[in-house]
Amino acid sequence: MPDGVTEPIVEVHLTPPELRAALRRDVAAGLSSSPKELPPKYFYDARGCDLFDDITRLAEYYPTRCERSILTERAAEIARLSAADTLVELGSGTSEKTRLLLDALAAEGRLRRIVAFDVSEPTLRSAADTLAHAYPQAEVRAVVGDFEHHLGAIPRGGRRLVAFLGGTIGNLAPKQRALFLSEVASLMAPGDGLLLGTDLVKDVARLEAAYDDAAGVTAEFNRNVLHVVNRELGADFVPERFTHVARFDPDEEWIEMWLRSSKAQEVTVADLGMTVGYGRGEAMRTEISAKFRRSGVEAELGDADLALARWWTDRDGDFAVSLSFKE
Ligand SMILES: C[S@@+](CC[C@H](N)C(=O)[O-])C[C@H]1O[C@@H](n2cnc3c(N)ncnc32)[C@H](O)[C@@H]1O
Repeated sequence: MPDGVTEPIVEVHLTPPELRAALRRDVAAGLSSSPKELPPKYFYDARGCDLFDDITRLAEYYPTRCERSILTERAAEIARLSAADTLVELGSGTSEKTRLLLDALAAEGRLRRIVAFDVSEPTLRSAADTLAHAYPQAEVRAVVGDFEHHLGAIPRGGRRLVAFLGGTIGNLAPKQRALFLSEVASLMAPGDGLLLGTDLVKDVARLEAAYDDAAGVTAEFNRNVLHVVNRELGADFVPERFTHVARFDPDEEWIEMWLRSSKAQEVTVADLGMTVGYGRGEAMRTEISAKFRRSGVEAELGDADLALARWWTDRDGDFAVSLSFKE
């Protein structure tokens, strides 16, 4: 590290063997359920993170652009309203958009600590190095963990702004979301803020295109979970035999991503001693991505004792960033 730059502190609450053990449990349960299902957190090995990064630059994928435009316009206001000296980011990935917030906090002379929390260790380490160079005045702490299990690892102290961007909250089903929000709130002290990025309900064609781009990057991202299961659990999925499907469920108001078996086939997961049959056309769900309305977000925050203070959208009302405070 150059002079004046302190190495990031890396805390691993999910070691590769623990992650593999969780994958074993989830794959065993998911491939035995009907319909079959795999949780979205396993998309994000190093290749999955790179593919997600590519997705964020696709013409069809409006959420990243919209959220960035909101943060560009509002970062100074967010910094002032939150009065935070610590930024905690959940599901931080590359922390790229987060730099807008960090710059604003730094401009106020307050930034003391950055906590980046993600399940993907390689991406997190590289992001933490970048942040340590860019913000030498701050302690940078990288926490490798699952935000559904390890939120207790987030350090206490300071005035904290917890950021959960990218619409990632939409990957949680309503019950998981309620639990997650109440856990986030319970680690916040009165006056701490939550900055939440939520994708909004809109025209179905645009929603579906955002998850089914013409270049097939999202399809590759979706199939990446099969590569992960092959590598980690000795499975013999042939990813090309699964077609990417993204569709909006108007009742649930969420996008579902599925992998549809293009033929009848058997897949063996060696480490689980499991052989799984897929019928021709059988679909396995790999992600939901809920789309929100202001009233729903406000109610869900309220249920977690978080009071909505600000609601900002991009010019076209496609995406929202909300700031709420622990009461
Ligand atoms: C949709 S990406 C968003 C990345 C970034 N925050 C953004 O806005 O572009 C989701 C991120 O959350 C991480 N993630 C997904 N599930 C997670 C979990 N259960 N615990 C911790 N991180 C998770 C992924 O590794 C990935 O970096």
